[in-house]
Amino acid sequence: MDNHSVYANEELGSWTERSGLLDQEAYLIKKYIQDHGRLIEAGTGGGRISLEINKAFKDLDIVAFDFVAEMIHAAKTKSDKIDFMVLDATELSVFQDATFDHAIYLQQIVSLVPEEKIFDVLNEAYRVLKKDGVILFSFLYYQGRKINTPLSVMVNIIRTLRGQQWRRQSLPWLKLGGKINWRFFGKGQATTYWFEEEEIRKILERIGFKIVEIKKDNMLYMVCTK
Ligand SMILES: C[S@@+](CC[C@H](N)C(=O)[O-])C[C@H]1O[C@@H](n2cnc3c(N)ncnc32)[C@H](O)[C@@H]1O
Repeated sequence: MDNHSVYANEELGSWTERSGLLDQEAYLIKKYIQDHGRLIEAGTGGGRISLEINKAFKDLDIVAFDFVAEMIHAAKTKSDKIDFMVLDATELSVFQDATFDHAIYLQQIVSLVPEEKIFDVLNEAYRVLKKDGVILFSFLYYQGRKINTPLSVMVNIIRTLRGQQWRRQSLPWLKLGGKINWRFFGKGQATTYWFEEEEIRKILERIGFKIVEIKKDNMLYMVCTK
């Protein structure tokens, strides 16, 4: 199982039906997004964040994409003002370099791609952003969930017994579609990647992003410019 299958099945209903913004999202959008130019949103799901941005910023030209076609189908029924597209964040070659003034990578999309593709996603985000453009990220935060350390030890002992690699910060889903994932310790589970603050800070800086603000609750929010 992978995260495409998770979002096309167990998590589909929950993300196509949501509306409104979380407090941190509202704060960051109000502070950093301006009502001009082009904005891209990655992993838009049912379009929740882009729909709210479109309500507040009428002059922004918004492209919002998701790799699950059913999500985009649901989003398209809600607005024809936003350009909703089926795309994978690892490969945005339909867009030229430096196309967007703003980018939204909230709701932990970077934590949802396979560990080995994290750099591809961040490099593509950097490439399509204009110089001085602003990007809002949120990441799953390893220290933001207390249970991560014991869970990681248990999962990785089982992985080792199976002859698999120890991957401390790649953890299977605890809940799927609001229900406990009883196959948590099973083989071939979809995983999410839980970042350390210093780790993602170094990765972003190595790619070329300048970090402007960091906020933490149980998630890790980072605002960057190019
Ligand atoms: C947690 S949901 C958030 C949905 C929406 N942004 C919201 O906040 O309501 C994450 C979304 O990212 C999408 N996603 C995950 N990996 C992706 C990828 N590599 N490319 C595009 N979309 C992806 C999932 O299909 C899902 O819709």
